[in-house]
This record gives sequence, C-alpha cells and structure tokens, in this order.
Amino acid sequence: MDAKWWQSAVVYQLYPRSFQDSDGDGVGDLPGILRRLDYLQDLGVEVVWLCPIFASPGVDNGYDVADYCAIDPVFGTLADFDRLVAGLHARGMRLILDLVPNHTSDQHPWFQASRASRDNPKRDWYVWRDGHDGGPPNNWASIFGGPAWTRDAATGQYYLHLFTPQQPDLNWDHPAVAEAVGEAARWWLARGVDGFRIDAITCLKKAAGLPDMPNPEGLAAVPAYPRFLNAPGVLGAVDRLCQAAFAGRDLLLVGEGNGISPRQSEAWVGPRHHRLSLVMHFEHWHLDTGDPAAPLNVVALKRSVGRWQRALAGRGWNALYLENTELARVVSRWGDPQRFPRESAAALATAMYLLPGTPFLYQGQELGLANPRFRRLDEFRDVVARRRIDEGRARGESEEAILAELQASGRDNARTPMPWDDGPWGGFSEGQPWLWAAPADPGANVAAEEADPDSVLNYYRRLLALRSREPALTMGAYRPRLGRHRQLFAYTRETPAGRILVIANLSGTATRYRHGDGRLGRDDLLLATRPVPPHPPVGTFTLAPFEARVYRVA
Ligand code: NOJ
Repeated sequence: MDAKWWQSAVVYQLYPRSFQDSDGDGVGDLPGILRRLDYLQDLGVEVVWLCPIFASPGVDNGYDVADYCAIDPVFGTLADFDRLVAGLHARGMRLILDLVPNHTSDQHPWFQASRASRDNPKRDWYVWRDGHDGGPPNNWASIFGGPAWTRDAATGQYYLHLFTPQQPDLNWDHPAVAEAVGEAARWWLARGVDGFRIDAITCLKKAAGLPDMPNPEGLAAVPAYPRFLNAPGVLGAVDRLCQAAFAGRDLLLVGEGNGISPRQSEAWVGPRHHRLSLVMHFEHWHLDTGDPAAPLNVVALKRSVGRWQRALAGRGWNALYLENTELARVVSRWGDPQRFPRESAAALATAMYLLPGTPFLYQGQELGLANPRFRRLDEFRDVVARRRIDEGRARGESEEAILAELQASGRDNARTPMPWDDGPWGGFSEGQPWLWAAPADPGANVAAEEADPDSVLNYYRRLLALRSREPALTMGAYRPRLGRHRQLFAYTRETPAGRILVIANLSGTATRYRHGDGRLGRDDLLLATRPVPPHPPVGTFTLAPFEARVYRVA
C-alpha cells in the first residue's frame, strides 16, 4: 500500500477537561491547550486527538453531544478553536476530533423532536419500541450497566441506549441519520480538522429484530455485546457514514474497535475498502485481571500483538496504544508502580511503540504516571463509577471493596488533571479542579521531568525521535523473537537497508538474553532505559527488571 502521512505520525490523545485550565474554573479549556503546543511538539507529537469538546450536558463528559457543531462554553469558543487549528497547523501538526455517531445526548434537538410524538418526522432517527409484558422490549443490558431501554412517558414507548439513559442511540438504519451526522463532520472538516476518532463505531448496527440475549429469566447478566457489537451489517452503516462525510478526502479516521477481531480487521482498514485508516481494538484489555498485584502475562501480550501484526501486514496498518480514557494507568496495570515505576513505564513504551503501526499516547502517559491515590468514594466523578458505587451500596457491599475495585480499574484514574509542576493543583488550574486525587508520585510532573535527563518524559522524547529517524522502525517488517519467553518481549524490524532489535524485560526480575545471532556491542546500542557501561561485543547479557534496549544488528 502507498505510505500515508499518518503511518509515520505519533498521535496524542488529549482529554481537554484535564489538560490545562486557563480561566481558573477548574476545567481544562482550549486556550489552555494553546499554551501547551510547544510541549506537545517537543515531545514528538504530530497529531492531536481531542476528546469531545462539543456542547453537552456532560453526563458522560462530552460523549453525550447536544450540538455537534458547537463548542461547549466550558472549553471556550469557536474563535479559540480556530486559533488552536491554526496554531497546530503552523507547527506542521494536525488535529482530529472525536466524532460520536452512535448516540446523542437526550438534550439534543433531534432527540427532543423524536421523543415529542410517535409521528414526529425524527421519530425513527432513534430506536423506539413498545414494551413487552410490562417491561422493556427485550432483555439487553447496557454497556454501562442496567437495562439498555428507558420508557419515555410522553409516548409510552421505550428508547434504546447502549450507554447511559441520557445517551439515546441513533438509528443507523434510517438514511437521514448518516446524512445528518455526515453534515456535522463536514462542517468541522471545512474548519480545517484533519480527521476523526470515531466513538463506538462498532455499535452502529443492532442485530436484526433486536432479539433477546439467552436469559429467559430477565435482564441479561452481561452487556448484550453479541447483539450490538460488530453485528452483521455494521460495515454498511460505516459505508454510509464514509460516503456522507469522508469520500475522496485524505484524512486520518480512527475507529474505536471494540469487538473487531484480527481476522475482521482488513475489512475495516484495508485501503481497498475506503473505510477507516485505523481501528483501536480492545484485545489487550483482556490481559488485565483486575488484580493490581498480578504480573503482566507477557506471552499473552505477544500472542495478541502477533495476531494483529500478521493480520494487517501488507493489508492495513495497526494502531498502537497502552492507555486511554477508559483504562487505569498502564504502570499500575502492567508495570510495577511501587518498585519500578519509571523503569516499567519506559520498558512498556519501548516494547509497544517500536512495533509497526501508528503510536497513540494518552496524556500523562509520557510522564509515567501511575494511578493517583483516590481515598474516598465521593472523589470519583465518572458516571460509570458513580453507578458502580450506587449499585454496590444497594447490594450491601463494603465501601472498602468498592473503593479497591475503583482504585484499580476506575476510568477516573486516567482522567485526573495533567501535572505541569509542583505548584497548587499541579499547575493545572488556579481553582479547585473538577476531579482530584493526590498523585502517586509528586515528582512526576512536566517541569521536574523536563529538568531530569533520566525522566520518563525525556525517555519518551528519545524513543519517539529514534522512531522517526530510523526508517526500519516505521516501515520495516516485524519479526517476533522468543515467543514463549515469559519475561522478554523481543522482535526485530527489518528493511533491506538495516535491521533493528528491540528487547524489553517486562517483568520485575532480571533475566538473561541470549542473542544467538552474532554479538552485540555497546556501539550498536541505539537506545536503552538504563545506562549501559561500555563493553565489547557479547552474545549474552543480563537485563535488569523492566530494562529495555534497542540495538542495530547486522
Ligand atoms: C467510548 C468512549 O471512549 C467512552 O469514554 C464513552 O463513555 C463511550 N464510548 C460512550 O460514548
């Protein structure tokens, strides 16, 4: 396939609410982001992905959109937005927005019209059904818990919502929906954006006839994923969106790929289909056991990476990520935040971001942040956490057990304000932030890490610079090594012009590496997470806990 600009780019997922506040209201905003563009550029970022900034009641922090073509006043104005686009483009950087086509807010005028009466022209823009036996139309549980249906008193029918009741699902079987969402996307493209991350895109099609899940007793015990995740026909809906909004343009389009398997991936991102550029699959989420003390299953991670690399080699392109707004911090999930916080942050980054694919960093990850210290249940803000707390209390679960679960896996772990310095509120805001928990390591902030050559931040800068400097690390073929080794993640990247070896110990104990393919000298070392003293070429050496090295090999 012909190389595309986004194949060699590094994307930074930015959570505007928590990045930088400029007006002291405790919520990050667009003028705040504008102040930090040099920081992003120095890091090596080429594309900024802004999580939703659109007008929203904020039930799901902006993933409940009330107006696709307006900036929520909490983030600033359209003029601020235009300045942001101009500021990024002036630096040779690009911007993608978060498009949310699966659902709107219940406050969106489309839904207000739809719910008004059964014969409103927008009635079928959403999914309305009569109840069944005095209850909802079927037994689907929503992704965020509870029934996926809510009865609306105005007409006595139920509407479908795969997320919260305040996020009614649009009906993608109705042709006007693709046209209307597409029009909104085109409106932003005309303002200069370079693409979109597309939320919940695998949910656009629901199983024909909306059949029950296999649980005659009542509400399905788990979200009704088999009925709405990557269901037959979903690619038709994607095609309608692409036709309405993206046809013939050179954009970065990133689908949230929950439920897509490696085997299916080519249909989503293969260039011949003219659909998306990339999908972010969820396969490696399953490596999290929920037990923060359990070590990473390195073999399972390598298998997953291998499946995706094989599926897309020469047929598409991978998205590489360790963190996002949905997951706890990777150092806390897969690393060792107590004994090796910096080392594990750097080793995981080395293993992941030198693979073939487009790297995605989530804000704060480049500082090696571990989960912050939430101490009380009332500190959590996320709608999913609040629901978990209410349900747990209603069931009589202990507060400690709920707290321990949310400390390990709550979405707010990754949503606390970006720590810029060691001033009040970490330099994020002059006012009380909308969400706060004490940082795991007060020394992990931008100012301190910029001044420390051995910081995670400076390691990320070297890692991304190496990636952009070495063609083998972008376009080189991927050859996995040591597939069954329980500690080492190793591979080479190869072009006819050269070969690069990546070896990362992703465990908390030292291990020997045997090269078995010539000898490796200090002069061949391109990057290392720890100082490596000068040494003559050797065939075997020890890697310390969470140590990673990158060598040029013959
Ligand atoms: C996925 C987003 O990443 C998440 O934050 C959001 O809550 C859901 N989609 C619903 O839009």
